[in-house]
This record gives sequence, structure tokens and C-alpha cells, in this order.
Amino acid sequence: MVSHIFPRHTHDELPTASGGEGCFIFDQAGKKYLDASGGAAVSCLGHSHPKIISALHKQLDVLAYAHTSFFTSEPAERLATKLINNAAGDLSQVYLVSGGSEAIEAALKLARQYFIEIGQPSKKEVIARRQSYHGNTLGALAVGGNEWRRSKFEPILIDTHHIAPCYAYREKYDNETEFEFGQRVANELETTIEKLGSQNVMAFVAEPVVGATLGAVPAVDGYFKTIREICNRNGVLLILDEVMCGMGRTGTLFAYEQEGIAPDIVCIAKGLGAGYQPIGATICTDKIYEAIKSGSGFFQHGHTYLGHPMAAAAADAVIDVLLNDNILTNVNNTGDHLKDTLHTKFAQHVHVGDIRGRGLFYGLEIVQDRESKEPFPSSYGIARKIKSVAKDKGLLCYPMSGTVDGKKGDHVLLAPPYIINDMEINNLSTLLAESLDEAIESCKVRV
Ligand SMILES: Cc1ncc(COP(=O)(O)O)c(C=O)c1O
Repeated sequence: MVSHIFPRHTHDELPTASGGEGCFIFDQAGKKYLDASGGAAVSCLGHSHPKIISALHKQLDVLAYAHTSFFTSEPAERLATKLINNAAGDLSQVYLVSGGSEAIEAALKLARQYFIEIGQPSKKEVIARRQSYHGNTLGALAVGGNEWRRSKFEPILIDTHHIAPCYAYREKYDNETEFEFGQRVANELETTIEKLGSQNVMAFVAEPVVGATLGAVPAVDGYFKTIREICNRNGVLLILDEVMCGMGRTGTLFAYEQEGIAPDIVCIAKGLGAGYQPIGATICTDKIYEAIKSGSGFFQHGHTYLGHPMAAAAADAVIDVLLNDNILTNVNNTGDHLKDTLHTKFAQHVHVGDIRGRGLFYGLEIVQDRESKEPFPSSYGIARKIKSVAKDKGLLCYPMSGTVDGKKGDHVLLAPPYIINDMEINNLSTLLAESLDEAIESCKVRV
């Protein structure tokens, strides 16, 4: 049968997903897959969670949709209150959107409008980091620092500026400590602000734990504290992108909690709706909100589906489960087991250069040579091959190429549901080990 779906990749033949239960997803042919990446770090509560399904049924019986220019809704209000009550720092208002890219777009426009409201209209420059991913819409793509994702669209992207990521495995010098490395790369922010003039810089955007483009790379100790200080000194807003690493993924509801800092704006999505509904949020401080409220009175932005009641109902139920069903304890405990298992299986593997991550968010960096950290040639297509071999074996993981510089390098990202148990983790790492070996061997033979 001819499909009229415009797929992600026109040469892929995809099975049809027909059901899911817990950490597993099934296709129409009856094959069962262990969902070790929750899609793209989305399905954090697994599939068919009864409490989320029930919340959705309930909301559907009440009201599916009401436009936010006419009404607020109970689920949106409940969700916003829960998020703010559990967010450290001065965050006070939640702008509900439909996904991660939308959350970033809203954050950028909010930052810009904030400076207009407070009489600093020259502030418009955005600084982010190389090898980051902030979404695929034009504003978010412009902020992101991944060469491969940007290159085709470069001529139509707004100008942005990129500093080094905090990527110790490849960018730390041998003669510096991790702390010194973190300070060196954090200070690139100050140098870049000086070069642009602080009166022109509105925001710095970063993922607390870099997901898709680097493979679960947390910053080293002290890095984000220095970043926060630099932003404060220069009147630059700190926008944290927790679209992938937030909502419990690293063991705390917000990933920034572990850095001992708080952002001016934080973006969340993915785990917020856990795949049950498309939803994201841009959360800002009272200072930003008050500037808008006492200024023009409205944020000049909006989408049809802002604060969608069904999406809010799902996210509200997700947050309830995260906070009340001991889920974060499980992320930490099974996260420790995942870490130990990955180290046991891969620490000596000839083609695994680095194992990093936090909570239930881990990355393995694949190299041709561990000593020199030389990646496999891009022509090998290692990441793509690992994905397909693993899928054949019934394991869904999230490999990606371009780890080193947007072109070279490969990693595998793991982001299993928070309800995964130790046995499933053992199974995951066994299947992953087999997949790595088979994929790498077949790539070597083919070339
Ligand atoms: C850190 C980060 N920001 C933003 C996005 C974009 O989110 P979405 O795909 O929901 O638009 C992603 C998606 O992978 C992400 O990982």
C-alpha cells in the first residue's frame, strides 16, 4: 500500500506501532521492543500508564479545548501551580506551548520583549554553545550549535554566537583539572559578551545536560555557577533548555537544581507530557513577568494550541505521578544500576571512549581508537547502523552522529522510562552490547 505520510527519512521502511505497555512498545507484526530511549527521551512513564490515561479520559468528558484568549482552564492552572511550587528560584509564571521548539521560541521572544519593556532595546544578541540542540524551528535552530542541523538553513537563520560546550571528554586540556576546564569554558561567555558589548546581549542559552547532540553530557562542577555570575554581572538572561534533561530525567524534577543555580527562564517539554500529549512550557521569573505586566500588559506571542486543556491534563497527571509515586527515587536508584551496568559492560570496550550521564540519562561515545579518541570515519555511518541492528534485536535506543563537531563522531543516548527495573536494565545493556559489536563489525566489513 502506498503511504501518503511524509516520513522523516524517505528510504526507511517503518513498522506500524500498535501498542505499548510499561517499557515496551509493540508493532503490528507482534514484535516487542524495549524502549530504552523513550522515543527521543519522551516516554518517561512508559506506555499505557493508567493514571495518565484516566486523567485524559476525565478531561475529555469535561472539555477538550478552549482558546486561551477567552478562557483559562482548570488543568492548566493546576499544572502551572504544581510546576511553580516545585521549582527552585524565583520562577513564577508558566507559558504553556505544544513542544520543545515552541518553548525555546517563546523564551527568545520573551527575553527580547523583556528588555524592550525595561527600556533596554539594544539588547538583542543571543549566545549559546557549539554542539547544542534547541529545536528545529528557525529561531531555535539559529540558537543551536550543531553544524549538521544548521548548515542547509544557515542563510535563513538569525545571527547568533556560540561558545565552547562544557564537554570535558574532548575539550579539557591534559594539564588542567575538571574545575579549571569548566571555568575556562564558562569564561568564554564573559569574553564574548565583552566583544559584543553587554548593552547588546540579551540571553545565554544552554542545556544543563546536553542531550541529542553530545549524548548526555553534564557540565563539570562550578561551571554553571560561574555562568550564572557572568549573566548577573552583565544583565544577561540565563535561559536553560531542559526540554530533554528536565522533568526528572536526571534525578531531580528540574535538572538545574543539581547545579545550585536558578535560571531566569527555563524551557521544558518531552517528559512533561511523557508522550501522552504534545506539550511544552516556558517558565519565567516574577521579574520578567512583572516587566510585561506593568509595561505593555501582554506578551506579543501566541499559538492556537497554547495551554491546551487535554495536554495540560496529561502533564498535570504526569507531574502528580513524578512527585507522589516515588518515581524520582526510582530514577536515582535504577540510574545507579544503569551506570554500574554500563561501566561493567563497556568501560573496557575497545570502541567505547566515554560513558557519561546522570539519573536515567546516559550516553556512550563510540570511537575507533580509545587512546587517541579518534572517531570512526563518518562514511561508516556507525550511529545509523547501531540504531537499525538494535531495533532488529528489539531494542530502541537513540544513536546520533556528529558528536565531535557536528560532522564526525558517534554516540548512543539512553533515556529509558523512569519505571524501568534492574532486570530490564540488564537486558538493555546485553542487547546494546550485542548491537554495538555487530554494527561496528558490519561497518568495518562494508567499507
Ligand atoms: C534540548 C532540546 N531542546 C529543544 C528540543 C526541541 O523539542 P521539540 O522536538 O519538541 O520541538 C529538543 C528535542 O530533541 C531538545 O532535545
